[in-house]
Amino acid sequence: MPPSFKKVIVYYSMPETNLMLKIISLCKRRGIIYQSSEIYGGIGGFYDYGPIGVELKNNIKKAWWEDMVWKRGDVVGLDASIIMHPLVWKASGHIDSFTDPLAECKNCHLRFRADHLIKKLKDSGKLDEHGIFTEEEVKDMESVFQKIKCPECGGPFVPPRKFNLMFKTSVGPVEEEGAMAYLRPETAQGIFVDYRNVLDTARVKIPFGIAQIGKAFRNEITPGNFIFRTREFEQMEIEYFVKPGQDEKFHRDWIKWRLDWYLGLGIRKENIKIREHEKDELAHYAKACVDVEYKFPFGWSELEGIANRTDFDLKQHQKFSGKDLGYFDENEKTVYIPYVIEPSAGVDRTLIAVIVDAYSEEEVEGVKGKETRVVLKLHKRLAPIKVAVLPLLSNRQELVDKAKEIYRLLQNYFVCQYDETGSIGRRYRRQDEVGTIFCLTVDFESLKQDDLTIRDRDSMAQERIKIEDLIKVLKEKLEN
Ligand code: GAP
Repeated sequence: MPPSFKKVIVYYSMPETNLMLKIISLCKRRGIIYQSSEIYGGIGGFYDYGPIGVELKNNIKKAWWEDMVWKRGDVVGLDASIIMHPLVWKASGHIDSFTDPLAECKNCHLRFRADHLIKKLKDSGKLDEHGIFTEEEVKDMESVFQKIKCPECGGPFVPPRKFNLMFKTSVGPVEEEGAMAYLRPETAQGIFVDYRNVLDTARVKIPFGIAQIGKAFRNEITPGNFIFRTREFEQMEIEYFVKPGQDEKFHRDWIKWRLDWYLGLGIRKENIKIREHEKDELAHYAKACVDVEYKFPFGWSELEGIANRTDFDLKQHQKFSGKDLGYFDENEKTVYIPYVIEPSAGVDRTLIAVIVDAYSEEEVEGVKGKETRVVLKLHKRLAPIKVAVLPLLSNRQELVDKAKEIYRLLQNYFVCQYDETGSIGRRYRRQDEVGTIFCLTVDFESLKQDDLTIRDRDSMAQERIKIEDLIKVLKEKLEN
């Protein structure tokens, strides 16, 4: 039997910034997330997913697609282009309203997201040092920025101005005004613009949804908190079309369905909550909105927004395109523009939330005394690697041959890895850190008995199973 590690104590709590640093380091060390263009010094707000990260990200998207599209029956899929006709963004309101307030220091020219800086000063009780006491005074951004100083150099601020977050590009070989286009800042508009096409070709009837997963781009003023706020990210969005008047009911339903989805993927209940938007927080298109928030190490923050977008977008596109976007309701014999409920989740934020939620450190008894085991207790559906095959010793050809044979067999059924580098204890540790659910170890008994040990990631319990039963046993364990 390979050495096993006895569990002594389990603990989760640790200083929270420390936890984020540990997770960032784990992501780099284990090929989950790298800084983009790192060998050139990096580029702010962009990240790459490594070999393990891409598997985890794909599993999140697959779980969402399976549960929101395949298993529901009232939602169909779409994959629209990232660059669309520029009028789309005029109609949607993004050209005029998709802005953040930008404040710049006159002295050191450092730029800040004005509302974030005010919130930071407010939360740390520093606004009153500048004679700003009431909510009304806080809301008057211009006068706040006449009073406060740059936190970096103490210099005065230029009054905040509106900064549009859309990235511009040009289409075709000429860079002139008429060729200008935008990278989409949300996937939603592709859905609205194709709504008529889907209606005419997919035999859908209200209430129904159109789902899309894809990249979105925002030139964020202050990207940060690792992959929480980036300039290129992925969204999983549904526009769910309903009869006007039924919007509030379906808004409530979607809040419940989405919360249940996260809980079903193992997110701990105490780490997730719903927060309703204040009226002055609402996006230009929304009648009501709630955020699904996760308790990140840097505080409760938005994982997903669930908005009641009313008929705003379809009406705007009908007006700007001149095309009829009405829906003929066969039951009611009337035509109306549907209302829209929009659950809009971030893939990257979900990924970091599931890592934070799954991260644990355990003190275990190792071969050389007490050790700390870092383990990602990811849900079975999300774990990037389901099975690892390890020969007990890498310098014994007969063990290596047998382990490779088993690995080749399993590759047809599960995402698996073969690992022969380092001691068996270190290899377990490496697999634990990326959340591999089972480690299979081929030892000398395996050669005689045609069996192996299967080690469970969470309990670290080991049992022997016959190789002829392996696929059946693994399938059962992974599916239940
Ligand atoms: N279509 C609606 C919409 O885009 P949003 O609240 O701006 O709404 C939806 O974005 C989700 O997209 C957010 O809840 C978040 O998960 C993700 N998201 C938005 N901006 C992001 C950014 N800069 N970096 C990473 N994820 C982001």
